[in-house]
Amino acid sequence: MAEEHVHAAAAYAALAETYAADHEDQTPWNSLYERPAIISMLPDLKGKRLLDVGCGSAPISAWAASQGAEVVGFDLTENMVALAQGRQIPKASFRVADLSEPLHFLEDHAFDVAVGSLVMHYLRDWVAPLRELRRVLRPDGLLLLSTHHPSWDIERSATGNYFATELVDDRWTRAGKEYEVRYWRRPLRDMFAAFDTAGFSVLAFSEPQPVPECRERFPQEWELLSTRPVFVIFKLAPAT
Ligand SMILES: C[S@@+](CC[C@H](N)C(=O)[O-])C[C@H]1O[C@@H](n2cnc3c(N)ncnc32)[C@H](O)[C@@H]1O
Repeated sequence: MAEEHVHAAAAYAALAETYAADHEDQTPWNSLYERPAIISMLPDLKGKRLLDVGCGSAPISAWAASQGAEVVGFDLTENMVALAQGRQIPKASFRVADLSEPLHFLEDHAFDVAVGSLVMHYLRDWVAPLRELRRVLRPDGLLLLSTHHPSWDIERSATGNYFATELVDDRWTRAGKEYEVRYWRRPLRDMFAAFDTAGFSVLAFSEPQPVPECRERFPQEWELLSTRPVFVIFKLAPAT
């Protein structure tokens, strides 16, 4: 496993319980901003097979299963996978796997939809993992990816160079504890180039807004999230 992946797994091993509990409690960043936005870009999932890429504690899988999908999820972090399995989501299975490695456990064209919610920024190289996701998707399938917006992460950049692809050292405070989290920042043009090289067409590109409930419950975060692009979402299809 590459050094940055060891770091992501270690960071999320420490964060797992808090991160999962935050999700249940409705956080401004996830359940009132990123998740409703990515869900709003998904097709009808009844009877579909969905791959939850970097599933964490499986909030996307739980939602997809509630809509009638059959789900397979994987994540680098064992504790996250254990939390996902512990939810006992019907017609869902979860395992530990690394998106930066070939996904040998998945067959070609096995999924109608793949969702990678806030996972791509843990990877330095996007092209090989995207090619794997293209392989496991049906030719008429869809891939939804959300990631950090590069203009948000530039505030923590060591170089201040928007066009650089660089590792960002961040610190998150959760439940009064500080966690060191490291991820990759790259310009939007490199994201689009990686999609193209890996054989995906971009169907939609979203700089989402938080849902109205965020304003009532978390006015400070709403102010930030409704005036700055923090996350970005892509809807992709295998190019023909
Ligand atoms: C911000 S969390 C998002 C989790 C989940 N998608 C959600 O929406 O709650 C990022 C997840 O990506 C996982 N991750 C990081 N690097 C990964 C990799 N190389 N392969 C698979 N999962 C990875 C982490 O373990 C963590 O669970």
